[in-house]
Amino acid sequence: MHLVAPSILSADFSRLEKDILMVNRSSADWFHLDVMDGVFVPNISFGFPVIKAIQKLAQKPLDIHLMIVRPDRYIEEFHRHGAHILTLHYEAETHLHRSVQKIKSLGMKAGVALNPHNPVTLLFDILHEVDLVCLMSVNPGFGGQKFIPHTLQKIRQLHEFKQKHGLQFHIEVDGGVDTANFKGILAAGADVLVAGNTVFVSENPEQTIRQLKEI
Ligand code: DX5
Ligand code: ZN
Repeated sequence: MHLVAPSILSADFSRLEKDILMVNRSSADWFHLDVMDGVFVPNISFGFPVIKAIQKLAQKPLDIHLMIVRPDRYIEEFHRHGAHILTLHYEAETHLHRSVQKIKSLGMKAGVALNPHNPVTLLFDILHEVDLVCLMSVNPGFGGQKFIPHTLQKIRQLHEFKQKHGLQFHIEVDGGVDTANFKGILAAGADVLVAGNTVFVSENPEQTIRQLKEI
C-alpha cells in the first residue's frame, strides 16, 4: 500500500490549524514539511516556530524535507522538533554517509533527496543505509510546478536496484503529483506521493487525498 504525504507548503498559513486538522482526519499518512533557506533554493519557507506549532497538532508522522545548505548543522534540532523522517539533499551535503548515521542514531528515519538533473546512480553506495529516497520531480523551491516526465525513468531505475538488492527504502516522489499522473508514478515503482497544490488548492482536499490513496 502506498503512502500519501500532503505538503504543508501549499496550506493556508493564516488558517494552518484548520489544514492540519484536515490532514489528521483524512486518509493521508504523513505530513510533508518543506524547509527552505533561500540559499540552497531560491525561496524561504518556514522554520522551527512553525514546525513547533505543527508538531503540537499533527497526529501523523512528520516527514521533513530540508532544502538548506549544510543540513548536518540542524539534525539534532529537527529531532527535538519531532521529525520522524529527516531528508537531506544529496546536493547539499558533503558527508552524506556521516549525516545519515547521525539521523538514524537519534532514532529518526533517514532520507536522501535528489534534484532532477542528477542520476540515481549517484546514490547507489548509500542506498543500503537509507530509509527513503526523495526523487524531486520538479526543481525544488516552489509548490505548484509541472511534473518532469523523465522522473518516471529514474523511479524505474531506482526501483529495479532496490528489488535486485533486496532493499527496503521508500521511493518518494515530490513535485507536480496530481490525480492524473499519480497512477503512472506508482506503476513505475514509487510508494510515497507528496502532493501540495493538488491537495490544498482542490475544492475538497480530503476527497483529493482519498483519490490519491486509490490504486
Ligand atoms: C518543492 C517541494 C515540494 C512542494 C510540492 O520544492 O519540495 O514538496 O511542496 O508541491 P506540489 O505538489 O504543489 O508540486
Ligand atoms: Zn518537499
